[in-house]
Amino acid sequence: MTTTTRASSYYRTGEHPHPEFELRRLREQALMFWPKELRTFQQLGLRPDWDVLDAGSGPGFITGQLLDAVPEGTVTALELDEGLLAQARSHLGPHEGGRLRLLQGSITEAPLPGAQFDLALARLVLQHLSQPAQALTELNRLLRPGGRLVVADADDAMWGSVHPAIPGLDEVLATRRLHQAKRGGNRHVGRAVPAMMRAAGFGQITVEAVTVSSDELGMNALAGHLDVRARMSLLVKEGVIGQERIDQIQDEVDAFLADPQSSFVLLMFLYSGVKEQGERR
Ligand SMILES: C[S@@+](CC[C@H](N)C(=O)[O-])C[C@H]1O[C@@H](n2cnc3c(N)ncnc32)[C@H](O)[C@@H]1O
Repeated sequence: MTTTTRASSYYRTGEHPHPEFELRRLREQALMFWPKELRTFQQLGLRPDWDVLDAGSGPGFITGQLLDAVPEGTVTALELDEGLLAQARSHLGPHEGGRLRLLQGSITEAPLPGAQFDLALARLVLQHLSQPAQALTELNRLLRPGGRLVVADADDAMWGSVHPAIPGLDEVLATRRLHQAKRGGNRHVGRAVPAMMRAAGFGQITVEAVTVSSDELGMNALAGHLDVRARMSLLVKEGVIGQERIDQIQDEVDAFLADPQSSFVLLMFLYSGVKEQGERR
């Protein structure tokens, strides 16, 4: 398989055929997972005066939550895509210059001096990088000694579940996984994160699974994640899968969503580690 040398397998601004859908999906995904994510951060010792880096912050929905979580601290959002940074500025702008910094740059080569954060979060970013290990080394540099890294990401082998089955779902997920890999990403990155964290100089590694489910939140809250017509539209545009096949699978999804007995669970992993005090590199 040929891979490209793009900086990220995520959509650049202007690339997604349905950008409003994708923005809404990111917002829903951020807000529905956040209460359980926050609980994990609190268990990991989150303090109100921490200086936090949100690396690969996208449109800033998690950045806003982090600002609330550290009312006496600061949040720096670092994002590769200017357009997504502008989205973040559109709703977080009033905080900028105070406790909030919005910065354009790459997680693999951040335009920031080292040793300035208590917590660095890389949420759903590593799966988009061709050099995730380099990103973890860079995040290690940016943390203060004893500072904490949290990588929130997925692994397609443990993405969640639907009941009853949607027959074409595995096929479309496998097609998306190959497409993302061709763009330099890796939807199996989750399993590799602990080893990469150790190699980058992190210790005290923990792994927590965080779930959201239709049974807790209602099917509507999660339904956007099964909108294969919108989510896979770039794959159709690029000829990776046919519109007809997507329409068939969307019909199966619609039947699933209309069934009051259906259950849908989505899973994300929070990998955490502490920057070791000594020099490691
Ligand atoms: C799926 S979005 C997640 C956004 C946000 N972290 C969240 O959880 O909602 C992935 C984000 O990572 C950004 N990204 C990808 N590669 C990056 C890099 N090398 N440096 C900084 N940001 C990057 C993308 O532009 C995109 O905004």
